[in-house]
Amino acid sequence: MAYDNVVLEEVEAGIWRLTVNRPKSLNALNSATLDEIGAAAAEVGRDPGARVLLLTGSGEKAFVAGADISEMQAFTADEGHRFSMRAMAAFRTLETLPIPVIAVVRGYCLGGGLELAMACDWLLAGASAALGQPEVTLGVTPGFGGSQRLPRRIGTAMAMELILTGRRIDATEALRLGLVNHVHPDDRVMDEAIAMARDIAARGPIAVRLAKSLVVRGQDLDLDNACALESQAFGLSFSTEDQKEGMAAFLARRPAAFKGR
Ligand code: CAA
Repeated sequence: MAYDNVVLEEVEAGIWRLTVNRPKSLNALNSATLDEIGAAAAEVGRDPGARVLLLTGSGEKAFVAGADISEMQAFTADEGHRFSMRAMAAFRTLETLPIPVIAVVRGYCLGGGLELAMACDWLLAGASAALGQPEVTLGVTPGFGGSQRLPRRIGTAMAMELILTGRRIDATEALRLGLVNHVHPDDRVMDEAIAMARDIAARGPIAVRLAKSLVVRGQDLDLDNACALESQAFGLSFSTEDQKEGMAAFLARRPAAFKGR
């Protein structure tokens, strides 16, 4: 499928990269871009060979500097509501992909940009990353899930502080808060992300998908039900050829060659 505002490419077998590509406006998210993010995520979801999706922004300066303020400026209340729902739908498509989705963040990652990154499973940051929810500085609330996903990631009090002040944090503070998993030099972070994706792609693909679904689904369950789900998934793993291969390879002291079945 052809896109105007994003670039979707398979950088290596099973490793997809989605790049928000509006560098002149620091990759700001307008309606068309939101729709394309949803469509591109769905496209990756249809590839049975997909192992990992990396999500990033084009250019040196920004991951995504937020929702597109030029488009939003003249919105009515109804248009604002619909714009938000449009992003929520696109981000849910991304968030509910069965494979790991990693945000690779350099430069500004603000408002809708941070919300997009938090719809990914985890973030890797370049040293230049500047993250925040500055919506209140524009007289609006977060609109693409930030008021909900940020507290779930870093706790209520710190999320509240960042959302209500609009304060920007750097990569080091984001690392300390657990908002990003690792910080690398800007010119290394994409290579590090691809190396991480390669590691994941070499693991048992069914096990990776099942394990992701356990973490995601378990969060909405009480511990007994969540652990019961894990026992079921663990049992199910033993019906795969990958389990036979993985354990045989371990015992034979050779690398496993998983087939995803
Ligand atoms: N929407 C539209 N255009 C944007 C934009 C945005 N969110 N962010 C930057 N741009 C545009 C600028 O207007 C500018 O365009 P022109 O060259 O045509 O004038 C271009 O990108 C470069 O930006 P700056 O000249 O401002 O670059 P800078 O280095 O001086 O500043 C910045 C960078 C601090 C990120 C600044 O651009 C900025 O503050 N941007 C807005 C950040 C923001 O408030 N984001 C939240 C948006 S609201 C939101 O996201 C709501 C929600 O939750 C859904």
